[in-house]
Amino acid sequence: MYDVYERKGGENMKEFPKNFLWGGATAANQYEGGWDKDGKGISVADCCTRGSKTKPRLVTFRTKNGEIKAKELFGLNVDDEVEFGCFEGFDYPTHQATDFYNHYKEDIALFAEMGFKAYRMSINWTRIYPLGYEEKPNEEGLKFYDKVFDELLKYDIKPIVTISHYEVPVGLTNKWNAWMDYRTIECFMRYVKTIGERYKGKVKYWLTFNEMNCLELGTWSGAGVATTKPQDIADISKHQLIASAKAVQILHEIDNHNMVGNMLAFTVFYPHTCHPDDVLKNWNKMNESYFYCDVQSRGYYPSYKLKEYERNNIALNLTDEEKECLRKGTVDFISFSYYMSGTVSADPKVIANQSGNLFTGVTNPYLNSTDWGWQIDPTGLRIALNFLYERYQKPLMIVENGLGAIDKVEKDKSIHDDYRIEYLKTHIIEMNKAIHEDGVDLIGYMPWGCIDIISASTGEMHKRYGFVYVDYQDDGSGNGKRLKKDSFYWYKKVIHSNGSQL
Ligand code: BG6
Repeated sequence: MYDVYERKGGENMKEFPKNFLWGGATAANQYEGGWDKDGKGISVADCCTRGSKTKPRLVTFRTKNGEIKAKELFGLNVDDEVEFGCFEGFDYPTHQATDFYNHYKEDIALFAEMGFKAYRMSINWTRIYPLGYEEKPNEEGLKFYDKVFDELLKYDIKPIVTISHYEVPVGLTNKWNAWMDYRTIECFMRYVKTIGERYKGKVKYWLTFNEMNCLELGTWSGAGVATTKPQDIADISKHQLIASAKAVQILHEIDNHNMVGNMLAFTVFYPHTCHPDDVLKNWNKMNESYFYCDVQSRGYYPSYKLKEYERNNIALNLTDEEKECLRKGTVDFISFSYYMSGTVSADPKVIANQSGNLFTGVTNPYLNSTDWGWQIDPTGLRIALNFLYERYQKPLMIVENGLGAIDKVEKDKSIHDDYRIEYLKTHIIEMNKAIHEDGVDLIGYMPWGCIDIISASTGEMHKRYGFVYVDYQDDGSGNGKRLKKDSFYWYKKVIHSNGSQL
């Protein structure tokens, strides 16, 4: 069998383009900790308990008669009126996370030592507007990000800021069901305007919503809504697509140097066989990945989605004004996460038991999997880059990619993560081919969790992605000390050689 791991290369490759943005990525809720510090409010992530590979994360709430309950995060559906929040006796991993709040200087110095040109992070909406609907922002929250941006700029590291990365204020959920309600668009616009004006000149790259296409799989993290109803998902999607288009326009008005991108979770799908039914089903599956990006990049709803809504009696009711807004608010570049590929079968006898970050599909026998069952596919990244570039003809940025693995600290405090180096190296080789052999305009690479943070899907600490190890463990032990892994020195060399020495 052809083994994708028998790939040669990595030494003396052609350099990446001049000004290529090498860096790393994190999200506030998974990294910062300080969940209640300096006036910060509670976000949807703060109400999620720690899970594991076998134990699902739960979301906690109080019922009308005062009972405290918890329900599974993925596919969360709560019809009754409840109050979401954090309660005694639960283990919430975001509350400490890996404590960037108190370590930002030390951590940014480590990013600088690796030679980062850019760093993708998110602003936690609840630091700026604790409940989401206030008229005035929280000055302490604004000051925190001033300090972070100043520290980054001191080392010439460009911040790339995700405006909403699973950090919807729970205040909005408890008030009017967050993104189900049109009024949340107004609150979001106030937030965008506040940060756009405050950080003008410091931040040039903005991403509106993290992985908006994940709304199809669960509405809690991205929207602060506990629903699985298709009409609700369509309404939430419409509200966020309009908000994203408005954000693009506002940020351009504030500073015409601003570059505003979207962000999608991109999984490349393959048909299980060449049976036309598999191929057709696969095409439909790919459209699930494309839908939000189609609207954000082209400025209108694609025909396949309109027909799907029509078939399923889903009302869209877009006004002329909203259509105009979508048209005017198209993004300047496309950013995406890529971890794995998926395989699709139309045959009910074929078992779909392969897990992944977003998707359960058929196991691809040509690929290996991570310890968490995500199928590793570097060639899929080259395919993804080509698919997206051909379809949209806009610059692309990879803002998440990497290997979640268990790392072992040796007695001398070294960490030999050659598996991570291998994963990243094979993916970078494919990026290089996409640029030099296929002509894709790729402008940056931000590997995920460049320093260890908690996992979004499981809430675990020991699923680590970082170049830097952080000594916090799932049982609550650890002193937060930062240690350089072997991949730290390797990535430093990659950046220093502009991708020619892997
Ligand atoms: C992406 C999210 O889907 O996957 C991140 O944007 C997340 O927030 C990343 O952390 C990796 O997933 P996990 O579950 O391994 O943390």
